[in-house]
Amino acid sequence: MKALQLAAANGIEGAQLAEVPEATPGLGQVAVRLAAAALNHRELWIAQGMYPGMALPATLGCDGVGTIVRTGDGVDPARAGERVILYPGLEWGDDERYPRPDFGLLGMPGPGTVAESIVVAASHALPCPGHLDDAAAAALPLGGLTAWRGLTVKGGVRPGDTVLITGIGGGVATCALLLAAAMGAKVFVTSGSDDTIARAVELGAQGGVNYRTERWGKALAAATGGIDVVFDGAPAGGYGEYGRALKMGARVVVYGSTGGQSFPVNAPELFLKNVALHGTNVGSPADFSAMVAFVAEHRIAPVIDRVFPFAEAPEALRYLRDEHALGKVVIAMDAP
Ligand SMILES: NC(=O)c1ccc[n+]([C@@H]2O[C@H](COP(=O)([O-])OP(=O)(O)OC[C@H]3O[C@@H](n4cnc5c(N)ncnc54)[C@H](OP(=O)(O)O)[C@@H]3O)[C@@H](O)[C@H]2O)c1
Repeated sequence: MKALQLAAANGIEGAQLAEVPEATPGLGQVAVRLAAAALNHRELWIAQGMYPGMALPATLGCDGVGTIVRTGDGVDPARAGERVILYPGLEWGDDERYPRPDFGLLGMPGPGTVAESIVVAASHALPCPGHLDDAAAAALPLGGLTAWRGLTVKGGVRPGDTVLITGIGGGVATCALLLAAAMGAKVFVTSGSDDTIARAVELGAQGGVNYRTERWGKALAAATGGIDVVFDGAPAGGYGEYGRALKMGARVVVYGSTGGQSFPVNAPELFLKNVALHGTNVGSPADFSAMVAFVAEHRIAPVIDRVFPFAEAPEALRYLRDEHALGKVVIAMDAP
């Protein structure tokens, strides 16, 4: 079968379509013929060698949707033919509070989804919500799961809460906007682009500020009237600005380090307002089931920036790196 293989970690040029052996499902596993996959920023990090203990060559991608074509021992053979959406994680473990230290994802260290087929645990292949077409379903797993756990388990978002989502053009952030709005939150966003903020408002945000403007925290505080929950993938440039707008008892949930790995926290601002600062990493299989059920109930469709045919998968990576604007970059396996 063909797969998007990273042969060398020297940038995305090291990722090309290649012929690789097809795996056979073992005990408790299923083989899924993939219909669509989606890219995340992590593929760009991985291509630069920024993954601990990298083993190459590797097939990229952790987001996928497809059809079960073979079942391994211990799996109901009647599942063959089922349309499934894939949990992107591996080995979360038994503790819902956090993953095992060796928790990983498909597409490094596990097999990747930008491929004609993949073998996964049968329990990680869930029935795909019927309202999502293949591209929309592929856009959901990592972004939706990270956003779901960050907003619910960590952020404790309640209807009526004011939620700030930073860098709204990002794939995870865009999923968070749709989920938080469906939870009944008032969502505000930041972006480096006024056009992207305008798109976010069309998608349900109340408003936003451009993080490229001077001292944007003032405008944010005035617009929001105070923030209950922040979902932040770029705290290095953000916390110093939005910190002043946090309400008493606010929750700040950090899921990424775009723009820098450290950020200063004003200690009195933190303790006097009883602010809780949380890190969050992906989510458990139980979180994934809950997220998929919520998406089905609210008929949420992830935002897609652009769909590429499988033959152009390397170009899709370049697009994600250089041109991506808002939403997810998807790869459709059967597109001409
Ligand atoms: N913890 C986890 O479980 C988890 C899961 C997935 C991803 N991540 C991490 O989350 C981050 C985002 O991933 P992704 O796949 O959503 O990325 P992505 O789709 O490539 O989006 C990146 C976005 O970051 C925003 N950005 C860039 N510079 C910024 C700044 N200075 N301040 C605020 N926002 C800025 C931009 O938003 P605008 O275009 O609106 O300016 C851009 O669209 C990455 O660091 C990734 O490694 C973590």
